[in-house]
Amino acid sequence: MASPCVSGRRWSRIVKMTLFLCFLIPMAATGIGNTNTIVGQKQKIDIQRQLKHLNKPALKSIKSPDGDIIDCVHIKNQPAFDYRFFKNHTIQMRPSFHPEGLSFDNVSSKSESLITQLWHLNGRCPKGTIPIRRTKEEDLLRASSVASYGREKHPQFDTTNKGGFHEHALTVVTGDKYYGTKATINSWKPQIQEQDEFSLSKLLILGGVAPKDLNTIEAGWMKDANQTMGCYNLLCSPGFVQINKEIALGGSLNPLSVYAGSQYELNFLVWKDIKGRGDWWMQVGNKYLMGYWPASLFVSLSESASQIQWGGEVINQQKNGQHTSTQMGSGHFPEEGFSRASYFKNLQIVDGSNILRFPKKSFIVTEKPNCYNVTNFVNYFYYGGPGRNPNCP
Ligand SMILES: *[C@@H]1O[C@H](CO)[C@@H](O)[C@H](O)[C@H]1NC(C)=O
Ligand SMILES: *[C@@H]1O[C@H](CO)[C@@H](O)[C@H](O)[C@H]1NC(C)=O
Ligand SMILES: *[C@@H]1O[C@H](CO)[C@@H](O)[C@H](O)[C@H]1NC(C)=O
Ligand SMILES: *[C@@H]1O[C@H](CO)[C@@H](O)[C@H](O)[C@H]1NC(C)=O
Repeated sequence: MASPCVSGRRWSRIVKMTLFLCFLIPMAATGIGNTNTIVGQKQKIDIQRQLKHLNKPALKSIKSPDGDIIDCVHIKNQPAFDYRFFKNHTIQMRPSFHPEGLSFDNVSSKSESLITQLWHLNGRCPKGTIPIRRTKEEDLLRASSVASYGREKHPQFDTTNKGGFHEHALTVVTGDKYYGTKATINSWKPQIQEQDEFSLSKLLILGGVAPKDLNTIEAGWMKDANQTMGCYNLLCSPGFVQINKEIALGGSLNPLSVYAGSQYELNFLVWKDIKGRGDWWMQVGNKYLMGYWPASLFVSLSESASQIQWGGEVINQQKNGQHTSTQMGSGHFPEEGFSRASYFKNLQIVDGSNILRFPKKSFIVTEKPNCYNVTNFVNYFYYGGPGRNPNCP
């Protein structure tokens, strides 16, 4: 899986932990991806045009201590709606049900596990807007080319991609119809060796088969470069409709777990609103209803998913013929266990009756267990590793 959605872009060495989302649909199916991407010959002109196109007028702008600017953009002006596909789209503010059987008043009134992002220190977005991390000129300059900023492509389990080797340590369930998943992931700050590498932890919902009708939805956290996040959140993957005004995709995430110390975790829940329009909704934490991917974007995922994956992914550029030392998860092997190794817990799937259940039979996938490994139990697992080490030269 050559996520997150784009390969061959540049990543800066100064990195931060962020939330990310992405999705994959066959581009030909909808025309998304061809409509508004500006392919540049004359880079300078294109950058200005691209910025003007990417950054929507803000009702309020908030400067984050980490240097990001968060624009509070009217919900109807979010980037997805630039695309012809969304021309007649009616925004849904709520799905028709919650797989935990909660009413949405219950969900939004929960007070525990508040998610904080650095920009919250300097303000909040008003009602009717959503927070979007502003794309800067240098973000585009650092991207490998203007043309690739705003594009996506990724064949499934593409491990020989010219953008580097994609290595995984996953737990997978397949062989049934799935309508969503929930998992709790603890947050870490893995070290990244090269600018064009990344490390992410995600849940992935898959339907169909590559290259015909593979559809995927991904959500999780990643160790991100300064600049490129927006690209596979609301900007490059203009398919997710955000409704939440508290959380900016691509904004820094706090707090992080400490090796042999405090552990911090985050819940992710994605489910298909099959009693409603069929959109795939996402909730982060216990109360942040983020938004949805419209059902009509998808071919195979328009019915149900055939596979769910949970775990880590790293890009290994194999610089100088050596395995990268980019870390996955905490950078420690699963055998170190709690508070040292990274984990997913409370793994659940949404079944055909819209009920969250523990997965029945899962298996693990890891290409190089000497570099990154995974240890599976019934509904939780440890995963990760340091990358290069004497057994992973
Ligand atoms: C990343 O962003 C920070 C804050 O804006 C800045 O100080 C730093 O120079 C940036 N890093 C790179 C590699 O551009
Ligand atoms: C939007 O609705 C109009 C009128 O019903 C229709 O002609 C048009 O094809 C629709 N556009 C899209 C992209 O669905
Ligand atoms: C959910 O909210 C309703 C009111 O909207 C309340 O009566 C009920 O007790 C709440 N349930 C839980 C589990 O908090
Ligand atoms: C990887 O983890 C499995 C348990 O899931 C264990 O049996 C195996 O020995 C580990 N491999 C390495 C190379 O550590």
